[in-house]
This record gives sequence, structure tokens and C-alpha cells, in this order.
Amino acid sequence: MLLFPKGFVWGAATSSYQIEGTATGDNKIYSIWDHFCRIPGKVANGDNGDVAIDHFNRYSEDVELMKALNLHSYRFSTSWARLYSDVPGKFNEKGLDFYKRLIDKLLEMNIEPMLTVYHWDMPQALQEKGGWENRDIVKYFNEFSVYLYENLGDVVKKWITHNEPWVVTYLGYGNGEHAPGIQNFSSFLTAAHHVLLSHGEAVKSFRQLGPKDGEIGITMNLTPSYPADPQSEQAVDAAMKWDGFMNRWFLDPVFKGQYPQDMLAVYNEYLPDEIREDNINNVNQPIDFFGFNYYSSLVLKDWKKADTSPIDFDTVNTGRPVTDMNWEVHADGLYDLMVRLKKDYGNIPLYITENGAAFKDRVSPQGEVVDDDRLNYIRDHLAACHRAIEHGVNLKGYYVWSLFDNFEWAYGYDKRFGIVHVDYNSLKRTPKKSAYWYKKTIQNNGFSIKEQIRG
Ligand code: FCB
Repeated sequence: MLLFPKGFVWGAATSSYQIEGTATGDNKIYSIWDHFCRIPGKVANGDNGDVAIDHFNRYSEDVELMKALNLHSYRFSTSWARLYSDVPGKFNEKGLDFYKRLIDKLLEMNIEPMLTVYHWDMPQALQEKGGWENRDIVKYFNEFSVYLYENLGDVVKKWITHNEPWVVTYLGYGNGEHAPGIQNFSSFLTAAHHVLLSHGEAVKSFRQLGPKDGEIGITMNLTPSYPADPQSEQAVDAAMKWDGFMNRWFLDPVFKGQYPQDMLAVYNEYLPDEIREDNINNVNQPIDFFGFNYYSSLVLKDWKKADTSPIDFDTVNTGRPVTDMNWEVHADGLYDLMVRLKKDYGNIPLYITENGAAFKDRVSPQGEVVDDDRLNYIRDHLAACHRAIEHGVNLKGYYVWSLFDNFEWAYGYDKRFGIVHVDYNSLKRTPKKSAYWYKKTIQNNGFSIKEQIRG
């Protein structure tokens, strides 16, 4: 039996745009994703989040389902577009009411809320002022965060400023796969700079205006990188550069107050003046915990400069099984990552704020979803967590991504990550086999590795 420490937090995660629906009800305005979904060719099948899984209206039964699955904690995000108003310094009270209702229900069911301030739904009105490329956004983000602290700080004690700054800025402004769809390497760096500054400001404000018994952190998506051949200098350097590009560019400012020197050199002619001139020590505010999302790792052969980007990577497939996202399954990568975080960034409490997998699920004629691949994925990653804890890693909790099947960004509804199946016609929720396994695991605070689940 792999038993977890007493008090280990077992949770599940979602985000506002991916589940809420009600794109324009109760004074909500369009977010960049509402807008992006309407640009032909950007999202698979022309899908959008207008209805999503209608969590806005069904939150109460959804929280009851969380309770039935024994969840200790639920990680969700607040939609900036739902709370935005045109009047500077004012916010949409009706939007706030929704989050109050949701949180009340969570507390009534004894489920701890973990709130992510920004999981990507920037108001389109702010995008029209430049979004994350406009330095004023640091101020707007701080005002938004303070509004949430002041109005929800009495009921929410665990706070996350940003979800995945690399995805927000590289996919949003670098390669354009995500909203707002900009493709420019310098824009990526500018946007990333502002996201990082806004994190620092929001943490500072939290110390003054947030709940005194509250905790705040940030969530990054981290992808550990390995050289294809440890004897090859190019491969070792490529793995190092990938780590700089995706991980250290964000980790170093938050934990050390500076950008990594090697990447500053690589990015040289793409660096915006702000990055050359600013002292970013302010980004390095003490945080109470560090959240990260882990899905896969990457093996690198080489890198080079490309025409429109200072860095272009040559990766290799290892032959490991892949998920429906084509991401390689590599639970040891999660172990390596946690050990490395402790070594390079200190013994801060860690939460895995997302981990999970998309697979093509089938609903049987009896209405069951036997998702052994997902179950095995979660179990193997939890075994890696257990091993890391035994080796002294300060891991406090695990949130599966995702509680529900939902809108998977540019893939629309094609990719199912949920431990609970959602029928997109009837919106019926059906826990999958992995959900029942997770429920039992929570109840036992661990699981037996002897259990053979592979089907
Ligand atoms: C992460 C996102 C989350 C979801 C998963 C699959 O990058 O935070 O919203 O899309 O990937």
C-alpha cells in the first residue's frame, strides 16, 4: 500500500472558460477566448465555450458530485471577463455573486476552495488595449486581484495568481495557437515580462489586503527536458535551452528575481527594452507555496536559430506510449522534476495543481466509461509523487486535471481529460472508472500497487 502523509490534499481542477458557459449572461462580456473561438480555423470544429458544460447553472449538483467523490479541495478560476466592467475601478457584482454561490456551496460540503485569479479569460476590452503587451495591464491585474481578495478573502484561503505563464504568453503571443493569436517572439517576451511583474504586484497586495490567514502562490506548467544522447554536446545544450525557454524563464524571476543569463544571451536581438532596463527583483516576492502542472517531458537532440525566432528545437520520440494529445507518458519525469525543484529552488511547499491525460473514452451500452489508460496514468504519477515524498520532497497535495471533460482550448471538445464524462448533448455527468478509483484512493489516503488495473 502506498500511503500518503496525513493531511495530504486530494483535489481536482477546472477553469472558468472551460466549464462555465453563459458567455454573455449576468453582464459578462466577451473574453479573448469568446472572441478567438469565432475566428474561423482557430478552434477545432469551430467549438466555443458558450455552453461548455453549463457549470454556471449546474454548480450546485457539480459540487455535490465532488463531495460524492470524496474530494478535499477544488481548484477553479475566476473569469476576469465575467467580473469586468467598463468603469475603471468597478467590477460586475453579478459575476461576483456566482463565485460567492459556488464557494458557499463548496464550504457547505466541506471542500476547500483553491482559487486561480487568471486562467486565461482576459476581457476582450482589455485585449483591445494591448492585453499582456500593454504595461498598464500590471495595474489592471492588480486591481482585479485586490477586488477578489477584498470580496472573497474571508471564504477563500488558497490563492494562485496565474495559471501557466508560458502558455499564456508563448501560445498566446509567440506561436499564436491560443488567444489572442499573436505570432511574434518579442511580443511573447513582452507579455511574459508583464505577467511576471503582475504576479509580483498581486502577491505584494495580498500581504496588505488579502486574508491574513491566507496563502498565495503561482502555478507554472513545467516540462522537464532530457538530452537524446547524454554524450552529445548539442543534445545536452538543447535540453538546457528548452529548460531555459519553458521553465527557468519563469522560475528564475519568481524565485531569484532575475532572468536566466544564458537565455538573455540567446534572445538578445528579440529582447524588448523593458527587459533590458527593468530590475525585476520585485517579481521575487515570498510565496507560501508553489503550484505546477505536469503532463509530459521532452527529449531534445539539437536547437538552432530560425528566421523569426531565436530558438527552434529538434525533439525526438522515445517510443513511450502517448495520450490522445500525443504527449508521451513519463511518470518518472514528474519525480525528477520535483527533486530538481527542491534542489534548485528550495524546499517550498508544492502542489501539483494539474496532472492527468486525454484519451478517447467510450461509453458502454450500460452507460459506463472504462478508462483504464487514464486510471493507470493517474496511478503511476501518484506513485511517482509517493516516491518523491519519501525522498524528502515537500509535496502537500495533488489536483487531477480535470474533474470534468471540458473545452480543451484550440482542440475544442475533441479531447477528453475528465475523470467525469460529460455528454455534450444532454450535459449528463457520469463518473468514469478513474473517478471511482480516485474516490477510493482518497478514502484510503493511498492505494495498493499490487492492484492490477491494466486492461
Ligand atoms: C493545461 C491547462 C488546462 C488544460 C490542460 C490540459 O495547460 O492549464 O487548462 O488545458 O493543460
